[in-house]
Order: sequence, then C-alpha cells, then structure tokens
Amino acid sequence: MIALFFFSALLWDEAGAWGFRDGVLHNSIWLERAAGVYHREARSGKYRLTYAEAKAVCEYEGGHLATYQQLEAARKIGFHVCAAGWMAKGRVGYPIVKAGANCGFGKTGIVDYGIRLNRSERWDAYCYNPNGKECGGVFTDSKHIFKSPGYPNEYENKQICYWHIRVRYGQRIHLQFLEFDVEEDTSCLADYLEIYDSYDDINGFVGR
Ligand SMILES: *[C@@H]1O[C@H](CO)[C@@H](O)[C@H](O)[C@H]1NC(C)=O
Repeated sequence: MIALFFFSALLWDEAGAWGFRDGVLHNSIWLERAAGVYHREARSGKYRLTYAEAKAVCEYEGGHLATYQQLEAARKIGFHVCAAGWMAKGRVGYPIVKAGANCGFGKTGIVDYGIRLNRSERWDAYCYNPNGKECGGVFTDSKHIFKSPGYPNEYENKQICYWHIRVRYGQRIHLQFLEFDVEEDTSCLADYLEIYDSYDDINGFVGR
C-alpha cells in the first residue's frame, strides 16, 4: 500500500488578482476541496498526457479520472479551466463558467470533445479525488501552523492536502518545519511535500 501525502503551498503574487492570467481564470486548486475535481498537466507542459498517462497521474495521487458528471458538478460551483483534459472512459473536454472569446467558443458548460477513439492523443487530465477534500485550505493570516490530518497521529494513506498561503505582492513567506515525518523513501516518491510559488504547478515549482 502506498501512502501518498502531498502538500502544496501556493503563493499568489497579488492577492487581488489571484487566479487570473492571460485573461483566463485558473482556479482548479482553489476549488478542489469543494468539488473533489482538479486539473493536471504533465510536468513537461500542456497537452502531453495520453489517456493511459492521464489515468496514471490521477491514480498516483489517490484518485481517478473525473467523470463528465463530476466535472459538471464542479463547474456548477465555479470550476473553470481553459484546457482540454482526459476524463473517465476516454472522454475529453473542459469546464467553462465564464464565457470568453479566448476559450470555450463563447459558451458556458463543458466543452465536450467526446469519447476519443485515439487514446494516444495528448491532453491534460481532470482528476477526481474525494480524499483531497479532507485537508488543506486557504490561509492569509500572518502566522499559521499547518498540521497533517490526525496530527500528532500518522496521516492516512492516499491523502492529498493543498495548503494555499496567500500574501500581498512583495511580501515573503518564511516556512519553518517544526516537525516533519513522512514515509521513508530516499527519492520521495511515496510521500512528499512540494512547494510552489504560484498557482502554476509547472513554472512555479520550488522544490520537493
Ligand atoms: C493518434 O494520435 C497520435 C497523437 O496525436 C498520432 O501520432 C497518431 O497518428 C494517431 N493515430 C491514428 C490512428 O490516428
């Protein structure tokens, strides 16, 4: 059994403008706790995942590819991502909340590319992970102590937590580890803490 523990500290450059880049709302991680659905790109960039790879990404994080219904349920509460991703059963699409010229052909709803016959096509992934709902949150306080679920006991298997730390532009974040204990694994593949200096999990990657 693989225990997976994933922390992500996210820092927005500007609290007032968080989530907007190139006129596109990026809020997948923000809403994860509410919907259990989130968007994933490959580390190497946009539209790099085959169906099998997309499925593996979600399963590695303890979830599975989101169904169309799960993506639509997330969309109804504001999940908006301008990037097509694999869903369960080889379907591809993306959720649009705000109609815009650049994305979604000016319509709202799931932009549905249908079930793809060619599973070697490369898209992003939409994962569903109900366990991801159990911890994390957005923090704007000047000082905060984060604890893993059940602390001081061990956290559960297949747990994913996203902690969002938001500060004003120009402010810095000082992270101090008072106690840190994850599953022993020198390459940090089983359990890990990752830090991002952005909502962007490719360019904002700081370290693991
Ligand atoms: C399936 O998609 C891949 C990637 O786009 C492409 O290289 C390949 O030629 C496609 N196969 C068929 C049968 O269309």
